Amino acid sequence: MERTFGIIKPDAVKNGFSGKIIDRIESEGFKIIGMRKLSLSKADAEKFYAVHKERPFYGELVAFMTTGPVVVLCMQKDNAVKAWRDLMGATNPADADANTLRKLYAESIEANAVHGSDSLENAKIEIEFFFSDKDLVA
Ligand code: CMP
Repeated sequence: MERTFGIIKPDAVKNGFSGKIIDRIESEGFKIIGMRKLSLSKADAEKFYAVHKERPFYGELVAFMTTGPVVVLCMQKDNAVKAWRDLMGATNPADADANTLRKLYAESIEANAVHGSDSLENAKIEIEFFFSDKDLVA
């Protein structure tokens, strides 16, 4: 079983889509083994997205991620990293396939409803950013 990491972003939380997204995660066969609602500080968001530091959208991304609460998730499933990325859909909702979370719930490439780890290696790093072992219940 693989583990991956996800965030329900401020736009989706604010728009009342958290429950729908969590329901979809479970109905697609993921087991949620860690979940927490929190507000990211600017320092947290900068550190979490440090890989994008040189990108032109970094400042706006950090600002957006601190506009309201988020829900952070650790999910378990066979091939969880790819399965979660498939369920999210393309980064830009305009390019996302029908019935993906971003097609259903995202507003724009920035306010794109959900985040997901892009590799197993990053999933481990991102899970450890928000959860300690005792927070994860299989
Ligand atoms: P996420 O999966 O959270 O990872 C980085 C985020 O940067 C991405 O989703 C987008 O929401 C955001 N972003 C904003 N502008 C862009 C852009 N032009 N290209 C890619 N990602 C962008």
